[in-house]
Amino acid sequence: MKITIVGSGYVGLVTGACFSEVGIDVVCVDIDQSKIDNLNNGIIPIYEPGLEEMIVRNMKKERLKFTTNIAAAVKESEIIFISVGTPPDEDGSADLKYVLAVARDCGKHMNKYTLVITKSTVPVGTSLRVKKAIQEELDKRKVNIDFDVASNPEFLKEGAAIDDFLKPDRIVVGIESEYAEELLTQLYKPFVLNGHPIIFMDIVSAEMTKYAANSMLATKISFINDIANLCELVGADINQVRKGIGSDGRIGNKFIYPGIGYGGSCFPKDVQALIKTAGEYNYDLQVLKAVEAVNKAQKSILFNKILNYYNGDVKGKTVTLWGLSFKPHTDDMREAPSLEIVSKLLKAGARVKAYDPVAIPEAKHHFGDTISYYNDQYEALIDSDCLAIITEWPEFRIPNFNVIKKLLKTPAVFDGRNIYDKDEMRQNEFDYFCIGVDTVRYIL
Ligand code: NAD
Ligand code: UGA
Repeated sequence: MKITIVGSGYVGLVTGACFSEVGIDVVCVDIDQSKIDNLNNGIIPIYEPGLEEMIVRNMKKERLKFTTNIAAAVKESEIIFISVGTPPDEDGSADLKYVLAVARDCGKHMNKYTLVITKSTVPVGTSLRVKKAIQEELDKRKVNIDFDVASNPEFLKEGAAIDDFLKPDRIVVGIESEYAEELLTQLYKPFVLNGHPIIFMDIVSAEMTKYAANSMLATKISFINDIANLCELVGADINQVRKGIGSDGRIGNKFIYPGIGYGGSCFPKDVQALIKTAGEYNYDLQVLKAVEAVNKAQKSILFNKILNYYNGDVKGKTVTLWGLSFKPHTDDMREAPSLEIVSKLLKAGARVKAYDPVAIPEAKHHFGDTISYYNDQYEALIDSDCLAIITEWPEFRIPNFNVIKKLLKTPAVFDGRNIYDKDEMRQNEFDYFCIGVDTVRYIL
């Protein structure tokens, strides 16, 4: 079996690496020449645990190749995945220009039956537009070639992408022909061996499933953040409340961790895009609008706590941030809560020092030299007034609190991810502020 994957970003690379890992011949295509050159030299453009080793291993076995030559790649494969970006337009709807450009490339170059599968997250109806674009190109060429389109949304999480792909909770596939179902059943066989189901459905439902899944997860997060904020006011502890509700199987204990708002390349844009789609059908998705509004407010929460602590004035204060990426185990800075916090701190006249185990090169694209970067988490604390935890990297979980206290001018820790224990912080005589727990203030 030979497949082509167009778009070699987070999803395309993980998909390509994992399919080649089970013995399938994969060609990954991208329009970015420098990305492809780097990949051909074993340089992986993103940080994703396990990805580099898997790519290099399969390149050596010659099962995984990288190219910018889409014409050749389309001709070589019967199965083509589209996994290019679908960033938000100015009005919040998904920008489909990259997806449709690839569809046209398929139509321009296919020379035999081809199954074109959209893996990018796309609004309902996009596969039909993909089909139309391919057909238009075939018509221009005046050729009659049979093809199918399918929708196969991806559910991997960054930081755990390889595991999610190899052992998916489920694989969702939208199809409109029996042959496409056969091909996809065959292709995904190695991934469903352990009982993970492959769920076939119509294409529109598959496209909708992806947005519904991300929106449901975003809803859980905004809900718990809203409850966390209320906990602070009434004197309850969200960490206990979370355990209390999470043990109810109907609610579940995943994705109910309070924090400083969801970030990343998908939840924010997908929630926005679904609201937009609903609007096009004159339907008001009220719940999701609230989810978005709560998330926006939540991204300011840690800054507000810092400002409050310094009596409304952080001018001249230095704040050290531990963590910059939108979640641990990735260098992805897209929509990271750190972007909002840094911007607010700088605007208020504070200085910012930062440490992140892997995201500093990415962060430099966003912050430039407006903040200082450190390669050591403790060094980043020297001469700082306080510490803020932005991303819950494992290495921040059991730090040397004595060193932190010695280095900070005020022993204040603002924990945006609730990784520390309030009682332990009290014993260590910190002023400790987290999310959804009544605040602990000892020194000042
Ligand atoms: P990305 O920005 O990391 O990668 C997209 C790649 O496509 C880039 O390398 C770009 O150069 C390439 N590209 C653009 N136009 C092209 C063209 N015409 N031909 C060839 N290559 C082209 O994006 P991503 O994070 O991998 O996301 C891709 C899609 O998958 C999006 O729709 C996203 O919503 C969805 N998704 C992402 C994740 C995730 O964790 N990042 C998870 C599930 C679904
Ligand atoms: C998310 C989904 O989890 C994937 O299933 C989906 O495929 C992907 O989006 C996508 O469509 O791109 P990802 O954005 O990589 O994956 O990361 P998550 O682990 O979902 O985290 C997203 C954000 O939510 C992070 O900022 C994280 O800190 C926050 N979060 C997550 C919370 O604040 N609380 C939680 O309990 C869980």
